Amino acid sequence: MQLIKNIKECKKIIGGLKRNSQKTGLVPTMGDLHGGHLSLAQTARLECDKVFMTIFVNPTQFGPDEDFNKYPRDLKGDTALAESAGVDYIFAPEAGEIYKKDSRTIVEVEGLSTPMCGKKRPGHFKGVATIVLKLFNIIPAGRAYFGEKDYQQLVIIKKMVSDLNLDIKIRECPTIREKDGLALSSRNKYLLKGERENASIIYKTLKQAKRKIEEGEEDFKLIIEQATKKMQKAPHLKEVEYFDIRNAETLEKINKRKGSKEVLIAAAAWFGGTRLIDNIVIKEKK
Ligand code: PAJ
Repeated sequence: MQLIKNIKECKKIIGGLKRNSQKTGLVPTMGDLHGGHLSLAQTARLECDKVFMTIFVNPTQFGPDEDFNKYPRDLKGDTALAESAGVDYIFAPEAGEIYKKDSRTIVEVEGLSTPMCGKKRPGHFKGVATIVLKLFNIIPAGRAYFGEKDYQQLVIIKKMVSDLNLDIKIRECPTIREKDGLALSSRNKYLLKGERENASIIYKTLKQAKRKIEEGEEDFKLIIEQATKKMQKAPHLKEVEYFDIRNAETLEKINKRKGSKEVLIAAAAWFGGTRLIDNIVIKEKK
């Protein structure tokens, strides 16, 4: 496995691979790798000849009061894990390599970046879309792998790819979970013991809402109210930031299942100072 620090070298390597008709895959991450990240790399390994992973804690997607400084960083540990998952190249640039001081261009996927996580994290998805487009340009792989865990991010990236006619196929990969259902996340390690023990309430509540919808409950407002109340009662849960039921493609709020192809049930909640997100998608009825 090769560790790459600069853009020029990245472009040279991928250029050579593409000239040799190699199938290339890209797995963008912010590092502190866990089983969720590794599952994306393993899928890429199965589908591609060469797999690139990027490890970059992207400053522009963190708000001023967010955890950019304390975000876990462990390039050495990550390198070993990535290698075990079959990654061929890691691109781990310094911030100065990615953002020039006089840079002025940002990418905004209008409408999709403002609801849900965007409400309390203004600017977050502009930072995400901008870095992801930059990474696609630095490593123009044939496929890029993203997790359903960050569903709004996935929808935004797919829309950006379509709107900007990018020549990259987005592969969506399922959420990997702990035994009790908690979605793996780099932020789980911030959780204190009691918080961790109760954090699976998010997934349990999402599953319950899914069941109600599948059983034919038409009143989504009621489902949201009941779910929010249930979560609020959980010990150590500080705040339910949102519990939403939306069209999984457009992210528009929906009040009934009829007419919506896929239904997204998504939640964000705070355990102490840690913000967790999760979601379930109800697939189209066949
Ligand atoms: P990060 O949070 O490191 O996640 C990198 C990728 O791993 C994302 O596609 C995310 O959805 C996926 N992922 C995280 N937890 C997962 C889980 N439990 N199961 C499956 N996949 C999971 O998302 C980002 O980084 C950044 O915003 C990034 C896209 C790299 C841009 O900076």
